[in-house]
Amino acid sequence: MSSTVSQLPPGKAPQLRVMPMPSDANVYGDVFGGWIMAQVDIAGSLPATRRANGRVATIAVNSFLFKNPVFVGDLLSFYADIVKVGNTSITVNVEVYAERNRLQTEIVKVTEATLTYVATDENRKPRPLPPLDPSREAGLNPVL
Ligand SMILES: CC(C)(COP(=O)(O)OP(=O)(O)OC[C@H]1O[C@@H](n2cnc3c(N)ncnc32)[C@H](O)[C@@H]1OP(=O)(O)O)[C@@H](O)C(=O)NCCC(=O)NCCS
Repeated sequence: MSSTVSQLPPGKAPQLRVMPMPSDANVYGDVFGGWIMAQVDIAGSLPATRRANGRVATIAVNSFLFKNPVFVGDLLSFYADIVKVGNTSITVNVEVYAERNRLQTEIVKVTEATLTYVATDENRKPRPLPPLDPSREAGLNPVL
């Protein structure tokens, strides 16, 4: 399946939008994968933090696919959805789209990842997730 799409995911708001700078490039001039991983971790932590109503720590990167390269100057949109919750853990799927060429026409899905976060207490130990609070979770999947 092609990674080029005609529009960004309709009806969804990105958790994060950011444009990589020349300082984020690798020695070949394209964007360094570690920089993208950091942004994905930040984007995924946002719905996890809301669901946990407090501090979370990343315990696992379950999968990470760099399907297409990212270029300096792409406008990146990070979409993050909770796909699973446990007693203390929250698993989030993150999809990243690049708008190429200064927003002209080309939109490419560049990265997809799944990460697990754990709600932690003030001693950095796992803490049970609080009950779902619809007012806090606005925009999250209501079945989770
Ligand atoms: C997060 C942390 C507090 C969890 O403590 P822990 O004793 O390892 O956690 P537990 O074994 O009790 O597991 C906690 C939850 O994580 C889940 N989990 C554990 N290992 C996992 C793995 N490899 N993949 C996915 N989930 C995992 C467990 O299933 C459990 O979920 P549940 O309560 O919903 O069933 C601890 O691992 C930690 O501090 N890790 C470092 C975090 C960090 O610094 N991250 C930033 C990157 S360096």
